[in-house]
Amino acid sequence: MSSVDTAPDHSLVIAVDGTSGSGKSSTSRGVAERLGLRYLDTGAMFRAMTWWLLREGVDVHDVAAVAAAAGRPRIESGTDPQAPTITVDGRDVSVEIRSDEVNGAVSPVSAVPEVRARLLDLQREVIGDGGIVVEGRDIGSVVWPQAEVKVYLSADPDARAARRAAEEGGSDLATTQESLLARDRIDSGRATAPLTMAEGAVHVDSTHLSLLEVIDRIVGLAEAQAAQSGARGTRDGG
Ligand code: DC
Repeated sequence: MSSVDTAPDHSLVIAVDGTSGSGKSSTSRGVAERLGLRYLDTGAMFRAMTWWLLREGVDVHDVAAVAAAAGRPRIESGTDPQAPTITVDGRDVSVEIRSDEVNGAVSPVSAVPEVRARLLDLQREVIGDGGIVVEGRDIGSVVWPQAEVKVYLSADPDARAARRAAEEGGSDLATTQESLLARDRIDSGRATAPLTMAEGAVHVDSTHLSLLEVIDRIVGLAEAQAAQSGARGTRDGG
């Protein structure tokens, strides 16, 4: 075949990493819908673990207690980008995991290596044969370094706080920004799998871009990658 196929193939993995409020979720869901891929929100898994620990009365700042409990909850993620789900022991917790209580406790929980190891296994299991957009902090660096497309999404703190406050129904801007920056500090400073820009990642600054523009840019990267591997296949006779 001499033509080069630019349609992304369905084993593709797109890793979208970045800070809180950079627009990862809306962007990743939009890209998945556009390309007919599944979608995984790994932040929701850390939130689900945190919700369960709080409900069990585990002190989230007691690293040994969190580590000992991390293997117990059954966390399942539904990957339809139009209706993603997250359950703990069969209970839908999609609303509960967005509470202030979980917001305030999720970063220390995410820093515990046993939590990360447990969720890493689950994340790799869901990714499986690919065909998925995965958002988080360490997807391109640790969870799936072989991802064909890696994006590091960022935005200025003011823009991120404004978006997050709007999502939360108009919460106080200064408080929202403070909470985002506090989470950034812990997420970037932890010893295990800190938030960093993965090798080979393309940096997209969404501060002055609309959601549609960011989605278009990532879809463009996926198509360019498909064209490149198509050309390689043709050259190699495959
Ligand atoms: O994306 P989010 O705000 O829902 O993520 C919640 C927390 O989970 C965030 O503070 C850091 C943690 N997290 C992580 O450590 N690694 C990931 N791959 C995803 C999220």
